[in-house]
Amino acid sequence: MWAEKLSQQLGRPTWGVGGWLVTRFFIRKNRVLEENAVQLCGIQPGDTVLEVGHGPGLGLRSAAKLLTHGTLLGVDYSELMHNKAKKLLKEHVASGKVRLHLCDVAAMPLADNTVDRVFHCNCYYFWPDQRKGASELHRVMKPGALMVTTLRLENVSLLASKQALPKDKWRPEVYMSALSDSGFTDVRMEDARAENITFQAIYATASK
Ligand SMILES: C[S@@+](CC[C@H](N)C(=O)[O-])C[C@H]1O[C@@H](n2cnc3c(N)ncnc32)[C@H](O)[C@@H]1O
Repeated sequence: MWAEKLSQQLGRPTWGVGGWLVTRFFIRKNRVLEENAVQLCGIQPGDTVLEVGHGPGLGLRSAAKLLTHGTLLGVDYSELMHNKAKKLLKEHVASGKVRLHLCDVAAMPLADNTVDRVFHCNCYYFWPDQRKGASELHRVMKPGALMVTTLRLENVSLLASKQALPKDKWRPEVYMSALSDSGFTDVRMEDARAENITFQAIYATASK
C-alpha cells in the first residue's frame, strides 16, 4: 500500500503532503544526477535543449547557465512539478529563454528535428509506454543529437525490490532496447562518479 502510494508520488507528484515530501527528496537527493546529466550532454551556447521529467527544475537551472542564445525546453506531466519549475525559473520563463510544457513525453507539442540535446534523470521508469516516449523523443531530436539519462542503479533496484517502482520498467536494458527499437544508435550505459557518488549514464544518439 505505502509502496504503491510512493510510486505514484515519485512518478507523478501531486499537491499535498506526499507531493511536498517527494519534492524535498528530489531537491536534496537528485541535484548531483541532474547537474551531471547536463554536463555529460555537451551543451553548446546556441543549442535547443530539452529536459523530460524535470521535477522541481534543478537540471533546467543548471542547463540555463550554459545557454547564452539557445532555448531550453522542459516537459513534465505533473502539474505540481510544472509549477515548481516555473517558479524556480521565472526570470528565464519571462524572457522566453525557457519554455515549459505540461504534457506527456509521448505527445510533446514540439516540431520534428528541432532539439540538439536531451537529458533526463530518474524518469523513464514511470513512462506509461517507453516505446512511445522513445519514438516521440527521436521525432523531435535532430539527426545525430545526443540524449543522456542519469540514474543511481543501486538505489533504483532497491526501490524496485520494495515494489516502489513499476515492475521491470526500471531495468536499464528494457529502456535501452526501447531506444534501439525507436531508431537510436550508440545506445550504451557507463558508470560515472561525481561528489563521491557513483551513478550510471545512458547515452543514445538520434539516427542520421
Ligand atoms: C522521480 S521524478 C524525477 C524528477 C527529477 N528529474 C529528479 O531527478 O529529481 C519523475 C518526474 O518525471 C515526470 N514524468 C514521469 N513520467 C512522465 C511522462 N510520461 N511524461 C512527462 N513527465 C513524466 C514526473 O511527473 C516527475 O516529475
